[in-house]
Amino acid sequence: MPAYAVIVGSGALTLPFDFEPLDVSLRTRYGEASAAPLTGQLGSTKIIMLARHGIPHRIAPHAINYRANLALLQDLGIERIIAVNTVGGIAPEAKTGVLFFPDQIIDYSWGREQSFSDFNKLYHVDFSEPYDQRLRNELLAAATLAQLEVVAGGVYGCTQGPRFETPAEINRMDNDGCAIVGMTGMPEAGLARELAIPYACVCLVVNPAAGRSADSIDLDTLAIVSRSGMERIGRLLVSFFESLEEQN
Ligand code: HPA
Repeated sequence: MPAYAVIVGSGALTLPFDFEPLDVSLRTRYGEASAAPLTGQLGSTKIIMLARHGIPHRIAPHAINYRANLALLQDLGIERIIAVNTVGGIAPEAKTGVLFFPDQIIDYSWGREQSFSDFNKLYHVDFSEPYDQRLRNELLAAATLAQLEVVAGGVYGCTQGPRFETPAEINRMDNDGCAIVGMTGMPEAGLARELAIPYACVCLVVNPAAGRSADSIDLDTLAIVSRSGMERIGRLLVSFFESLEEQN
């Protein structure tokens, strides 16, 4: 079974790779995962791709069964997870189109099943480095090799959605130190940590956050920017898996 999984969000199903559904049950002890994992080859590495919003894209960020998705990947023996998320840009460096590799996260979401802790097991995991440093550095190196424009570090603020934020909420997040805003970064990262699966995140900035441009946030524009940005995510992944092959 492949050791790598890529969890993809909006727009990522347009990635230019040949993938086919894996014939496994989506049922886990935490309920149903979002979609059948897709399997395919990047270079000589076989990977799993999981669409967190389902196929077709229909599950809202707050309604995603993050625990089932992570439990399914664990059951498949996944050893490292690359998360791809689209986000809005708050900080000036988080310009539309860049690839942003956060190194910290603030969770503003609420009411989501955010832990595997139960009456038998209690996970008090260290989360001072929410993203796996080694995997993050390898992804950054791959992005540099592929000559992609990146921002290496900053705070991801995870909102509840599915509506976008008010400018006042964005100002508050800015004051808190958030550079980017998305709706799906948590509890995914925390759950991966509970399972001790190294996890790193690459974000594609697809719009200025609310109040950070003269225009309101328009879904059609977001879809176009996401689609063109996914080509860069594709180049990042190819570069990453090619570098892996060279190391082996
Ligand atoms: N806010 C929250 N999530 C997002 C945004 C945004 O502006 N853009 C893409 N995902």
